[in-house]
Amino acid sequence: MSTAMVVGGFFGDEGKGKIIAYLAKHDDPEVVARGGVGPNAGHTVVVEDKKYALRMVPSGFVCESARLLVGAGVLVNPDVLKQEVESFGLKGRVGVDKRCGIIEEAHIEEDKKNTYLKGKIGSTGSGCGPANAARAMRTARQAKDVEELQEFLCDVPQEINDALNRGKGVLIEGTQGFGISLLYGTYPFVTSKDTTASQIAADVGIGPTRVDDVAVVFKSFPTRVGEGPFETQMTEAKAAELNIEEFGTVTKRKRRIGQWDGKMAAYSAMINGATMIALSGVDRLDPSCRGASEYEELSKEVKEFVATVEHDTRVPVKLISTGPELSEIVDLRAK
Ligand code: GTP
Ligand code: IMP
Ligand code: MG
Repeated sequence: MSTAMVVGGFFGDEGKGKIIAYLAKHDDPEVVARGGVGPNAGHTVVVEDKKYALRMVPSGFVCESARLLVGAGVLVNPDVLKQEVESFGLKGRVGVDKRCGIIEEAHIEEDKKNTYLKGKIGSTGSGCGPANAARAMRTARQAKDVEELQEFLCDVPQEINDALNRGKGVLIEGTQGFGISLLYGTYPFVTSKDTTASQIAADVGIGPTRVDDVAVVFKSFPTRVGEGPFETQMTEAKAAELNIEEFGTVTKRKRRIGQWDGKMAAYSAMINGATMIALSGVDRLDPSCRGASEYEELSKEVKEFVATVEHDTRVPVKLISTGPELSEIVDLRAK
């Protein structure tokens, strides 16, 4: 068993939730740990006819034996966390690092009324930017200071590294995407932290030498929500022609749709140290491929697209998602 990490290669919402849920179900890790900014992210997981939207707990919850951890780098909104634990029936399985930063009501208010954050950047209004600012100013509270989080408190790096020392599998889940990284994205139209693999490793407290695989998720048709440049964006009419319409998991805003961007994908794969690519939404390219689980079932058009992605990034495409549901995937890892 080993450590696998999943991160977003474009502007977020690449379908990481779906990929993580598949890997958790298929690879049966002992621990799934979430990194990233906080509840600004919304992962969608579809299992049969049930749809889950997760903002705080790891998407790997579908692996029923897995311990579910939230790393110290992540900002916690205690209400959102508790509500998810309750509604998804996760009591006893979730651990929150005692050092996680806390989002206060005042951070949310600030995020929603601040004309720069909300207006110019198009923030999610979830309080993450102001909470990370408070963290940098060292005025933020930590999870250990919050009464209602006491039952979840743990040492995430210790749990992960102990599991690895016992030879168990660990799955690490990134949120957001490369294009909205504070360091490498389209600044200032970015989120309040780096979003690349190195940051996600730091978020959960694992050293770079212990990460075996980094799967970078790319969408066949990238999307962007909020403000900021999007070089390959298509017109709404073109998106409608292709039958693509998406809305944000957290904010319900309409996502802008674009064409494949090979240059961005290559740069993103490089900085993330990608060992493999997970390509989502190939059913958008050719609806006849919806639900395929074998490479042979894919059409010539989709196979050629996979070859283009590999050519552009110089990284093998190992997972090909053919629909939102967990089992709609071609897994080439063993082949
Ligand atoms: P963030 O952490 O917020 O960046 O989100 P995410 O990467 O987990 O993605 P999100 O769930 O917000 O958006 C992806 C959308 O695409 C969801 O509606 C998924 O159900 C859907 N999706 C995922 N994989 C596929 C796929 O292969 N085909 C199609 N058609 N939809 C997919
Ligand atoms: P914030 O992270 O809420 O401050 O938002 C800053 C920018 O990042 C905005 O353009 C948001 O739309 C975008 N953003 C933040 N989190 C996500 C995400 O999980 N998916 C997609 N976009 C995001
Ligand atoms: Mg999302």
